[in-house]
Amino acid sequence: MAESPNPRVLRIGILGFGTVGSGAYRMLHDNREEITRKIGLSYEVVRIGIRDSEKTRALPKTMFTTDLLSIVDDPEIDVVLELMGGVEPAGDLVERAIMNGKHVVTANKELIAKHGSRLVALAKSQSLDLHYEAAVGGGIPLVQPLKHQLAGNDVLKMMGILNGTTNYILSKMKSEGSDFSVALAEAQAKGYAEADPTNDVDGFDTAYKISILASIAFGKQVPVAGVYREGIRTITKIDMQYADLLGYCIKLLGVVEPRGQGCVLARVHPTLLPNAHPLASVNGVYNALWLHGDFVGDVMFSGRGAGSDPTASAVIGDFIDVGRNMLAGGCGSAIPYGIGIETAPISELVTSYYLRIQVQDRPKVLGAIATVFGEFDVSLAAMEMKTLDGGRGEIVFLTHPCVEKSFCDALHQLESSGTIEVVCNWFRVEG
Ligand SMILES: NC(=O)c1ccc[n+]([C@@H]2O[C@H](COP(=O)([O-])OP(=O)(O)OC[C@H]3O[C@@H](n4cnc5c(N)ncnc54)[C@H](OP(=O)(O)O)[C@@H]3O)[C@@H](O)[C@H]2O)c1
Repeated sequence: MAESPNPRVLRIGILGFGTVGSGAYRMLHDNREEITRKIGLSYEVVRIGIRDSEKTRALPKTMFTTDLLSIVDDPEIDVVLELMGGVEPAGDLVERAIMNGKHVVTANKELIAKHGSRLVALAKSQSLDLHYEAAVGGGIPLVQPLKHQLAGNDVLKMMGILNGTTNYILSKMKSEGSDFSVALAEAQAKGYAEADPTNDVDGFDTAYKISILASIAFGKQVPVAGVYREGIRTITKIDMQYADLLGYCIKLLGVVEPRGQGCVLARVHPTLLPNAHPLASVNGVYNALWLHGDFVGDVMFSGRGAGSDPTASAVIGDFIDVGRNMLAGGCGSAIPYGIGIETAPISELVTSYYLRIQVQDRPKVLGAIATVFGEFDVSLAAMEMKTLDGGRGEIVFLTHPCVEKSFCDALHQLESSGTIEVVCNWFRVEG
């Protein structure tokens, strides 16, 4: 005899109907049969919260409200999908939804990076789910594997290309030899970068994401303020060309690694990666996370890190999880992480460096540079030189791994003594 379907209907409220909200709605609509079968319950979108009631939308006006409190306060709604973004009013609405007994799925990286620890603990205390897979890496499953399949590992290092806009810009700079401003303008024209690109190109977005991933991996909230951050504005096509000559590409990476008990070093900055590294082949708007765990070894996840459809895929995956948990009578994976982890300063980093300088092209300059670096325990691994006009030369060094403070102190001494005329650029090197 065929099993009769569960008569209960899951009632959904959506906050936001932009790129992600409309994609999530579309997936709920287009894949209804598949999703219903996988949850074991049917569902209905009751109401969608927006800001501007005058915008033309693909659904009847009666579906929408600008009164978002009416959604999170509606006793009939079981699950709220928070897809509006920003910390306020989204944070208050999420908190109120939880206090009103609703499960929440969010794509909001800023909210989770800044308040995830408190909100997840609140959901757990109410036996509710708060899921946020879409907040990091769009359609790439990263949050759930870190919470579950990889949870038994000591994570020894995690590095991610977590922002599609900057990866698109850097890929264009490399493949077409264009300057940052040209590649940015092209990204803006194609809709990959916003009119104000600060959040992406200055590394804020990546800092939110690496903070979230690090908090899950290390079990304690890694505060965004403790993540060292640099953006990509200073990278030039000249650096791209030298990097290529030396067998490297330049990527904006979010990196986190443990620094002894209860301490991590988390950072976001342009990084030279060897062309043979798995992350080096992740180009365009694609994102990826590479990690090394003590038992699993190296693992890499990659895919489309943003956009309506991939992000909807992650939101709806979380929604299905909520539905299944509700049917099973529990909350599945609102896994709280506490506070109290320390973050080490960037000056303690040990890595290799790329340095591009200009000097007077005369005898003994190279020797003087090598001597000062030697005094600070910085040894040189590779070098490229080019003669410039006016009796000057350009030199690019790669160093062996050394302490960042030593590298910076040596550079300062070389600059202040006049041995180096211009420090054009320097970047950290991985791999
Ligand atoms: N876009 C992506 O590819 C992507 C990927 C991963 C995660 N995310 C995250 O997903 C969230 C949504 O991003 P999005 O790109 O979909 O944003 P979006 O296109 O700007 O859409 C935002 C939606 O929320 C509504 N909204 C915003 N503030 C509101 C307020 N104060 N009151 C009422 N409604 C408000 C807007 O209403 P109106 O329509 O009336 O303007 C709009 O419908 C963000 O947290 C973002 O970080 C986005």
